[in-house]
Amino acid sequence: MYVVVVMVVVVAGCWASPLPIRVSAKASHQERLAAAHNLLTQSPLIDGHNDMAWNVRKFLHNKLHSFNLSSDLTQEKPWMNSPFSHTDLPRLKRGQVAAQFWSVYVPCESQYLNTVQLLLEQIDVVKRMIAASPDHTVLVTSSAEIMEEFERGRVGSLMGVEGGHGLASSMGVVRSLYDLGVRYVTLTHKCHTPWAECSERGLPPPNTRGLTPYGNEMILEMNRVGMLVDVSHASARTARDVLATSRAPVIFSHSAARALCDIERNVPDDILSSLAVNGGIVMVSFYNNFLTCGEAASIKDVIAHINHVRSMAGVDYVGLGAGYDGINRTPAGLEDVSRYPELFAELLKDTSWSLQDLKKLAGLNLLRVLRKVEQVREQLAGEKPSEEIIPIHDIDTRWPCRYKFSSLDHART
Ligand SMILES: *[C@@H]1O[C@H](CO)[C@@H](O)[C@H](O)[C@H]1NC(C)=O
Repeated sequence: MYVVVVMVVVVAGCWASPLPIRVSAKASHQERLAAAHNLLTQSPLIDGHNDMAWNVRKFLHNKLHSFNLSSDLTQEKPWMNSPFSHTDLPRLKRGQVAAQFWSVYVPCESQYLNTVQLLLEQIDVVKRMIAASPDHTVLVTSSAEIMEEFERGRVGSLMGVEGGHGLASSMGVVRSLYDLGVRYVTLTHKCHTPWAECSERGLPPPNTRGLTPYGNEMILEMNRVGMLVDVSHASARTARDVLATSRAPVIFSHSAARALCDIERNVPDDILSSLAVNGGIVMVSFYNNFLTCGEAASIKDVIAHINHVRSMAGVDYVGLGAGYDGINRTPAGLEDVSRYPELFAELLKDTSWSLQDLKKLAGLNLLRVLRKVEQVREQLAGEKPSEEIIPIHDIDTRWPCRYKFSSLDHART
């Protein structure tokens, strides 16, 4: 009886983890694709950014009664007609995505208005969307849970807030978002927050270049609670300030390399070459406009950006953050979330990529970052929650519609 159980485990183990095959550089596309499938069966693929939840807001007003993430959305309106739709669970499974960070995005136009409400509604809709397909996906909030679900064969769903204006400059909101299961905050979207400068041009000037002193405190509180800090969309100055302040690794959840497409949204070389000191990661965006600074791009352009990050930062600091459902132009060969294996099939042509390095790119690097952030949380468990409040002169003129505490409030018993 005992022997039989052991045998079954060994045999099942072999099926679950076929031996890695280093195909020859001259292998056919089918052979390389089969090898890519093997690789992603053994080791998890984790994508840093998917904007589907905002499309659920725009297309369905968050009404899920006739929506099914487990169905083939390429056959359903309005998804089939939208250049912004690239995601459903059947395609995530074909794409061998082990874990997906769903962006809980709120527009900059809601800053100083109902941004926290909209953010809570996006968290709610992501949780309801996931809960409706329990056989295929489940909310996960830790590196250990990502691995458990990878082994069970369900897509691990994570949440990242985009952007920091949704925090309403409040330490209490940061902590509450963590408690709701959010695991990263993109510090800015296309607007400055009162404490962090974004990369967008042509806006009214920020309070400061980079981070304010209160912004520094926000980073330290995120470190303390175990929230990943995401500096995609932040200005380079903000990213440098964050890298100097953060006690934990920092992520770029969906950015590309500025050396290959010179726009503010992409990561400059000086940051790439200093990233290893922090231990962070650049998860490469698949948005054509970030890849080529034009409307067209191919799988080779994505690889050029991955290779540039690898050469400047190192192979331990690169990952994938496609940005599907938030982009309307995708590279030829990477049209939707089912196509990640094609990227690995293409990379297998290049013998400078070892199988282990490809696993790092797919997900092991992000897992390392997440584990380190979790360790820092444990190390800082003895520290007290921050009770800092944003200095009134940093927000006063911009945020007239809010409850103002008077001296009477302090006297209440
Ligand atoms: C969602 O779609 C899948 C695949 O077609 C189907 O198996 C499942 O029953 C559907 N769920 C609901 C609630 O309709």
